[in-house]
Parts: sequence; structure tokens; C-alpha cells
Amino acid sequence: MRISVGSDHRGFAIRSKVVELLKRLGHEVEDVGTFTPDAVDYPDIASLVAPKVSRGEIDRGILVCGTGLGMCIAANKFSGVRAAPCHDDLTAEMSRRHNDSNVLCLSADLLGERLIDRMIELWLSTPFEGGRHARRVAKISELEQEGK
Ligand code: RB5
Repeated sequence: MRISVGSDHRGFAIRSKVVELLKRLGHEVEDVGTFTPDAVDYPDIASLVAPKVSRGEIDRGILVCGTGLGMCIAANKFSGVRAAPCHDDLTAEMSRRHNDSNVLCLSADLLGERLIDRMIELWLSTPFEGGRHARRVAKISELEQEGK
């Protein structure tokens, strides 16, 4: 898959490990930074990843900030983006099975490295179940139209 990865300063240390893991798993990775530990605003980083998912230029995005929440809120402003703030195996898996998430948002402050690795592997390998869940995801797209 083509995967774009970004973090703010709080996710800076974790992001390089995420990039390494993705490359080891054989994915094509775009690292959008941030490239120094200096403070940056998470919406500026989310907006380097989420529009590409929205336009279908990349398959998935992974965003890391302190809690994972700011990145998630920002990424979900782009149509067709289904960013999920996941914090364990179950949320990583179910965000794929039921919600067809295409951006994974991670907390650098709350999650350990091994858990993050496991969640990413699960998130990348778990298929969307479709069926009744496809109907619900389609309704999310309809809401995007209403919100315009
Ligand atoms: C940055 O201080 C922090 O607010 C950010 O990393 C993130 O946790 C926002 O949701």
C-alpha cells in the first residue's frame, strides 16, 4: 500500500519507528514530518496527509500526536477521510472491519511501541466487512454532502 505518515512534535520519536515498520512490511511510505523536535501545529501536519487520502493519491494515512485526537479531528475535515483514534488491538481492528477507516490516529503519550506495532499490523491486514457496514459508511458520506 501507499501510506503517508505524519506527526507533530509530540509524535516525532514514534513516527520514525512507524516508518521503519511500514517499510519492513513492504509498503511504499511517504514521511511528511515533522522533521525536528520543535513544536508544530497538528492541523498543519494532518493537512499534508488527509487531502491525499481524500483524493485517492495514497491508500492510507497514519498520524501521530500527543493524544491522537487533534490529528483525528483535523483529518476528518476532508471528505472521504475516515480517521479513527485507536488505542488498542480491538479499536484498530474494528475501525477497519466496521468503519473502513483509512487514517489511523495514534497517541504518542499513551501507547507503547510494541502495542503501536501490533495495532498497525492489525489495521493494515484487517479487511472492511462491507454488507450492513457499507450502508452505514455510505450514510457518513451523505452527511458530508449535507454539511457542505
Ligand atoms: C500538542 O501539545 C498536543 O496538543 C497534540 O500533540 C495533540 O495531543 C492534540 O490533540
